[in-house]
Amino acid sequence: MLDKRHVPVVLALILIVIVVSGCSQQKASVDKAAVTIPAGEKDPAIWGKAYPLQYESLMKTAEGGQGKSKYKGSDPIDKLSEYPFQLVLLDGWGFGVEFNEPRGHVLMLKDQLKIDPSRRKAGGVCLSCKTPYAPELKNQMGLNYFKEPYDVVHAKIPAKHSELGLSCIDCHDEKTMELKISRWSLNDALKSMGKDPTTLTHQEKRSLVCAQCHVTYSIKKDKDMKSVDLFYPWAKSKWGNITVEDIEAVIKSDPANYEWKNNVTGMKLGHIRHPEFELYSNGSTHWSAGVACADCHMPYERVGSSKISSHHVQSPLKTDMKACTQCHNQSPEWLRDRVIYIQDRTNNLMTRAGNAAAQAAKAIELANKTPNIDQNLLAQAKQLYEKAYYRVGFISAENSMGFHNPEEALRVLGDGLYYAEQSEKKSREALLKAGFTPPEKFDLELAKYNKRGTKGLTLKPELVKESTFDGEK
Ligand code: HEC
Ligand code: HEC
Ligand code: HEC
Ligand code: HEC
Repeated sequence: MLDKRHVPVVLALILIVIVVSGCSQQKASVDKAAVTIPAGEKDPAIWGKAYPLQYESLMKTAEGGQGKSKYKGSDPIDKLSEYPFQLVLLDGWGFGVEFNEPRGHVLMLKDQLKIDPSRRKAGGVCLSCKTPYAPELKNQMGLNYFKEPYDVVHAKIPAKHSELGLSCIDCHDEKTMELKISRWSLNDALKSMGKDPTTLTHQEKRSLVCAQCHVTYSIKKDKDMKSVDLFYPWAKSKWGNITVEDIEAVIKSDPANYEWKNNVTGMKLGHIRHPEFELYSNGSTHWSAGVACADCHMPYERVGSSKISSHHVQSPLKTDMKACTQCHNQSPEWLRDRVIYIQDRTNNLMTRAGNAAAQAAKAIELANKTPNIDQNLLAQAKQLYEKAYYRVGFISAENSMGFHNPEEALRVLGDGLYYAEQSEKKSREALLKAGFTPPEKFDLELAKYNKRGTKGLTLKPELVKESTFDGEK
């Protein structure tokens, strides 16, 4: 199984040789030498003159559809109605107003411009993973890049590219075509955990180009809650072992990392976003076997007589597990079943832990309002809630529904469930001590938190009750 892994690499090398020597039959590769990509060129269409196959492939990321994916796919499905407990957990800022499943790369900036404006409130900093102009804007504007309102910084992008999403220059060097890290924030983060960003192997870069954006990040705030920095909270971690505990410790190390206030609990909190790289690289079976993000999301594909790395980055379930069968001898059906098996279990525990955290939040809300409450017990309930919040957030924001690292996903969720239940217990104890008998189960009052009203959020009440293991979403 393992030696098959090298076949595509060898084929790619052969392809590069053919491309460079200019003797390919493909219209794609002939004029490569004739087209020089200008330094700093952001327009993928210009790169596409030299590499039309990769360009056309990238443009396909505009396509929607769920294909054979059960939980993911490429439509902007509303996560708040999929997981209504999030309405309680996220009440108080943009995520609680609109929060969608991700879709294709060329749509990233368009989608950000379309989303509820409360999601862009942090300012220019929000553009960091949405436009190839971000590194340049940050260099030009310095602190103001983070601080200034989103619209002000967005207006500095040339009009013709005001909706341009991911581009070649985000991952490639325009002269050598080598993979390249373009985001300062990833270089800083690697250094913060003692990994030298100048000596990365090619296979590491096949994951790290993705880790520029598919990671959690924190936005530091000044005393007026204006954004002043963007960083990945890895300073207490080691390469290959970034844990939710280490991330939590970094967030807690500085009050400036507390980005928002939850209305239900009245607590200031940090936040964990899409930690695909962190979950995956934390000792998963595939990571330990040396498999990169690009192996599963950019498999080799034949276009005419050429073979390219698919730049139509998407769920491997949508291409009938072709990425997996580069290495695995099993049938696509068997492989898909394994993915769904893992995902159903993750989804089950995530829904349980999420609902438990929402119960804990409502218990704190009530305790906050109750006179003569034991402040010590309430403080303990809040500390436990914060732990639960980061753990539920870690796995619910991660985009593989556990597949990237099944064991670790279940461990984190198990801890999240435990902390949520302990938190609720402390609040109940405090309420009883203050002479108030809390209800057996708190009403989550979901309708109250649905801020979009007519924008079409439909709650699925069956998800609110504890999910039993029957797999259905
Ligand atoms: C998200 C990062 C990313 C973006 C954006 C991206 N590429 Fe790539 N590209 C890769 C990776 C990863 C490989 C595989 C490199 C390897 O293993 O040698 C690759 C490979 C290539 C290759 C080598 C041949 C092949 O297909 O493997 C070419 C040429 C190429 N890309 C051109 C482009 C062009 C042109 C664009 C823009 C239209 C682009 N790429 C955008 C990540 C990216
Ligand atoms: C510059 C930031 C950036 C880089 C680099 C990047 N991504 Fe993404 N990716 C995003 C954003 C943002 C979205 C969501 C876009 C949306 O929903 O509009 C996304 C979406 C996706 C999706 C979902 C696609 C779908 O159809 O639902 C996958 C899969 C993905 N990225 C994988 C990767 C992989 C693998 C790499 C590296 C080869 C990578 N990304 C590099 C920012 C990035
Ligand atoms: C061993 C194969 C494999 C590797 C390696 C891998 N992924 Fe995935 N990834 C998957 C599968 C399977 C899914 C679940 C897709 C689904 O449910 O449709 C997924 C889902 C995703 C999604 C959500 C896709 C969607 O449709 O919304 C993103 C984003 C993503 N992966 C990014 C990454 C990044 C970044 C890396 C590297 C840090 C990575 N993946 C490594 C197999 C892999
Ligand atoms: C680049 C090669 C490669 C790719 C691509 C790849 N795998 Fe694997 N996979 C491995 C290796 C190596 C192992 C380790 C076990 C072994 O050697 O059998 C493994 C193990 C597994 C296991 C067993 C996990 C465990 O914890 O024991 C499953 C399930 C699996 N892969 C599914 C998939 C699926 C689904 C995809 C596509 C989304 C995929 N793999 C893509 C190389 C790969």
